[in-house]
Amino acid sequence: MKIILLGPPGAGKGTQAKSISDKYSIPHISTGDIFRKNISEKTPLGVKAKEYMDKGLLVPDELTIDLVKDRLSQEDCKKGFLLDGFPRTVKQAEALDEFINDKGEKIDTALLIEVPRELILERMTGRRVCPSCGASYHIKFNPPKNEGKCGICGADLIQRKDDNEETVMDRLDVYDKQTQPLIAYYKSQNVLSIVDGTLAIDKVFEDICSVLGER
Ligand code: AP5
Ligand code: ZN
Repeated sequence: MKIILLGPPGAGKGTQAKSISDKYSIPHISTGDIFRKNISEKTPLGVKAKEYMDKGLLVPDELTIDLVKDRLSQEDCKKGFLLDGFPRTVKQAEALDEFINDKGEKIDTALLIEVPRELILERMTGRRVCPSCGASYHIKFNPPKNEGKCGICGADLIQRKDDNEETVMDRLDVYDKQTQPLIAYYKSQNVLSIVDGTLAIDKVFEDICSVLGER
């Protein structure tokens, strides 16, 4: 199964991606996680990506598209994949289509997790993430069992640098301008499905499974 997760920052893409990837045994590919790993390892890509990410801007398409093509060429993606945070521009979507269509394949579902803007700020500022395994928590909506510690690997949780109020607002503007057009893009390809992301985390996952079951 080849799935794309769409939705604004804080919609719950990363949270749901972990469960979807486990259930359907497909690799979870998050461009945000790949960039953050490069930043923590201070690679040349990480140094460039950081400039944009700290400001809530998109990393340029030229850097992002090749990175994803390389990842999708790996053996574990043959059985399918779950893309989280890519594509984010029409140019990225077209490049992905070209890459997949060249192999005679296609995207099965572009799954939009819908959450209104007014709920997002609280989600982002209360988010805590695990720098080691990438798990995402929320101080109110999804608190870890041991305060400040990852429930999966035990590492100390941190707050993302781009999760402050000002940068979140900038990221939302970038989403509206550059990423939202992808909703119409995938609708016109008849692969768009929408779930209500305002419900509880388990309920959203249930809805995602029924949508994927129908495909
Ligand atoms: P990225 O890491 O992809 O961030 P994002 O899209 O802004 O999404 P988030 O990770 O912030 O949110 P999410 O939807 O995964 O929400 P989560 O599950 O954590 O990208 C970061 C940056 O990298 C970009 O700004 C850009 O600079 C760069 N980048 C990445 N990809 C790129 C690309 N393709 N092109 C160019 N640049 C790129 O949930 C959020 C919080 O809410 C958590 O605390 C969670 O516990 C809580 N929560 C989740 N679901 C629920 C629920 N149902 N009810 C209550 N709380 C919930
Ligand atoms: Zn962890």
